[in-house]
Amino acid sequence: MLYGIAIAALGLLSTIATSLAIDTYGPISDNVSGIAEIAGMSYIICKRINALDAAKNTTSTIGRGVAINSTALVSLALFGAIVSCASISIVDVLGPKVCFGLLMGVMNP
Ligand SMILES: *[C@@H]1O[C@H](CO)[C@@H](O)[C@H](O)[C@H]1NC(C)=O
Ligand SMILES: *[C@@H]1O[C@H](CO)[C@@H](O)[C@H](O)[C@H]1NC(C)=O
Ligand SMILES: *[C@@H]1O[C@H](CO)[C@@H](O)[C@H](O)[C@H]1NC(C)=O
Repeated sequence: MLYGIAIAALGLLSTIATSLAIDTYGPISDNVSGIAEIAGMSYIICKRINALDAAKNTTSTIGRGVAINSTALVSLALFGAIVSCASISIVDVLGPKVCFGLLMGVMNP
C-alpha cells in the first residue's frame, strides 16, 4: 500500500512544475487589472479583465491543491520508509486502518 502511495506522490510531483509555473500568471493578471483601473478603461475591457481574474483564481487554487496534495502523499511515503527502515513490529503502523487515519489527519489542516 505504501508503494502505491509513493507512486501516487511521484505522479503528482511530476506535474508540479507545470502547476507552479501556471501560478506565476497571477501577478501578471493583477498588473493588467491595475493598469486598466488606473487608466480608467471602458466597461467592456473591465468585463474581460474580470474573466482574467477568474482564471487567476482558478489557476492559483489548482496550484495550491496540487502542492498540498503532493506534500501530504510525500510525507506519508516518507513516514512509511522510516517505519519500515526502523523495523517497528510492536505497533502495526503500516496497517490499512492506521494508514487511512494518517491520510485523514494529514488532510485536516
Ligand atoms: C505593472 O508592472 C510594471 C513592470 O513591472 C510596473 O512598472 C507597473 O508599476 C505595474 N503596474 C501596476 C498597476 O501594478
Ligand atoms: C477572486 O478571488 C478574490 C478573493 O481571493 C475575490 O475577491 C474575487 O472576487 C475573485 N474574482 C473572481 C472573478 O471570482
Ligand atoms: C487534492 O486532494 C483532495 C482530497 O483527496 C481532492 O479532493 C482534490 O481534488 C485534490 N486536488 C488536486 C488539485 O489534485
